[in-house]
Amino acid sequence: MKKIMLALGLLYLGTVNAADMELAKSIVKEKCHLCHGKEGEASSAVYPRLAGQNHSYLVKQLKNFRDGKRKSDIMNEMAKGLKDDQIEALAEYFSSKPALTHRIRDKDFAAVGEYLFKKGNRYSGIPACKSCHGEFGQGSDELPRLAGQHKRYIADQLLAFGARARTNDNAIMHTIASKLTEMEIEALALYVSGIKEETKEE
Ligand code: HEC
Ligand code: HEC
Repeated sequence: MKKIMLALGLLYLGTVNAADMELAKSIVKEKCHLCHGKEGEASSAVYPRLAGQNHSYLVKQLKNFRDGKRKSDIMNEMAKGLKDDQIEALAEYFSSKPALTHRIRDKDFAAVGEYLFKKGNRYSGIPACKSCHGEFGQGSDELPRLAGQHKRYIADQLLAFGARARTNDNAIMHTIASKLTEMEIEALALYVSGIKEETKEE
């Protein structure tokens, strides 16, 4: 009996997920793909990649955009009117897509970023990014994946955190980003944009 219940339970979960995926796909097609790509790949470097981004982090950001807690003219408009179940479905959809990465040409400069990411800068009091964002920048359910993200977006967010322009929960990231120099920001952004998925620890 238990086995049958379990099988039915799994079947139920399966259909819910399939329905969620369909719901998400139709919203993406209608409202998101122009900037973020059909699967969150965001082929234009000015928009963040969502593919492989972590589930709870996506839910939080979309709710924050919807409720105006995270300010962005475009995204406040896009998220307006999204219902909680639509946000869940979108997060499920994008987090299930494979993350991508970039090929890095300037390896020396990326090495500066790698050092900061793994060790921080003890002379200016910057902690290692990996202590929160993970050894390979994969993040956790609640913390954003940085690996493979477009470098322009990463640099812009670090500047926004530093200037308190990114308004949702920025206490931690504000303290860190406000101490980063321009060179450190660019080096970090370059390094994380090229972290490869194969090296992800799971
Ligand atoms: C016209 C372009 C455009 C469209 C369409 C668009 N977005 Fe965005 N999106 C952006 C920009 C620009 C940002 C970065 C905002 C910022 O700087 O804070 C962003 C950021 C995001 C983020 C935060 C990513 C992160 O790493 O924190 C999520 C999640 C997101 N968008 C989801 C969506 C969803 C879901 C849709 C469709 C309902 C959508 N977007 C439609 C331009 C767009
Ligand atoms: C003590 C933990 C902690 C450390 C250390 C940390 N971060 Fe973060 N970071 C966070 C949290 C939490 C968020 C998500 C904020 C939110 O929910 O909006 C974040 C968000 C970000 C984002 C936004 C990502 C996106 O998709 O929009 C970037 C970029 C970032 N961090 C880069 C860094 C870098 C680079 C370092 C190292 C110099 C670093 N972080 C160190 C906790 C940390």
